[in-house]
Amino acid sequence: MARKSNNTSTFESTRRRKSLGEDEVFSAEDQARFEAMRSEDFDEGPVDDGPPTGDRWSTWDDSEALQRGPKPWPEWIITDLGAVDYELGVLKTGKEADVFLIERAVPDTDRAVLMASKRYRSAEHTQFNRAGDYTAGRTARRSRDRRAMEKRTKFGLEQAAGRWAATEFDALKRLYVAGVAVPYPVQILGTEVIMEFIGTGRTAAPRLAETRPDEAELESLWEQACENLRLMAEQGFAHGDLSSYNTVVHEGRLVVLDLPQIVDIYANPKGLEFLTRDVENLGGWFTARGVDRQEVDDLRVELMALAGLR
Ligand SMILES: Nc1ncnc2c1ncn2[C@@H]1O[C@H](COP(=O)(O)OP(=O)(O)OP(=O)(O)O)[C@@H](O)[C@H]1O
Ligand SMILES: [Mg+2]
Repeated sequence: MARKSNNTSTFESTRRRKSLGEDEVFSAEDQARFEAMRSEDFDEGPVDDGPPTGDRWSTWDDSEALQRGPKPWPEWIITDLGAVDYELGVLKTGKEADVFLIERAVPDTDRAVLMASKRYRSAEHTQFNRAGDYTAGRTARRSRDRRAMEKRTKFGLEQAAGRWAATEFDALKRLYVAGVAVPYPVQILGTEVIMEFIGTGRTAAPRLAETRPDEAELESLWEQACENLRLMAEQGFAHGDLSSYNTVVHEGRLVVLDLPQIVDIYANPKGLEFLTRDVENLGGWFTARGVDRQEVDDLRVELMALAGLR
């Protein structure tokens, strides 16, 4: 797209110069080439291959088998080639990613599903500005080097964002299959992870931190927290950033979110520390509301045993 508009402006300036009477600037051959470019690329106006409704065609078909959620696919998944995606707005902007609400729908039918789309940012702006400060005032030659470096840096940052996304998607798949309460991972494409939307209507479920459960609800949520942690430990994983902010409660069900930093407790030398921290962070929220401290200690010991660490 960007290249096309550059070409357009080249062409425009050619025409402008012509109209200033500088015909000799371009040979007849050049002129013919420009004209040919114009008729091919520009006469139709900007190329628009977007869908008649919606903000983009469904990206389902762009993901390959391993980039799609585990089978059996839930019945609500929309795989139609003619489906379109609507952008419904931002659910939350975060440090490395923004989470959007999207709807995937099949035009002219009543089939539609809401999903959460987590898009990792490459953080290029902050990094670029810093690079810019270091290299300000250098010579043209240096600045050419710098441009090359920036290009590579940008590439690297894109890669990093893509890797966070891929790690989160794989973690979601693996944990979903193991029975951990996580959103169903629908698909990944580059830096975008699309997953089940946990919420009511278009409203996202509240985070655990925002809920005020009564005694019975608290007991149930604590049991679910323990069970989810057990299942993760059995798989050899710690969440790595578990807290009342990365868990939501939907109709009494505790759902674990935000998994790009998932920790392999065997491969990571600090695996045990991460596991302990997860238990402390989430357990702390529960003990502050009445759960017995001893239960948190017991859980930690149990998880170590499950993971074969003690
Ligand atoms: N699948 C989902 N369904 C509903 N809401 C979601 C979903 N995924 C994320 N959210 C909402 O977006 C918020 C941020 O998601 P997440 O924690 O995965 O991203 P993040 O970039 O790590 O954010 P932060 O930096 O705040 O931790 C969640 O707390 C939740 O409110
Ligand atoms: Mg988070």
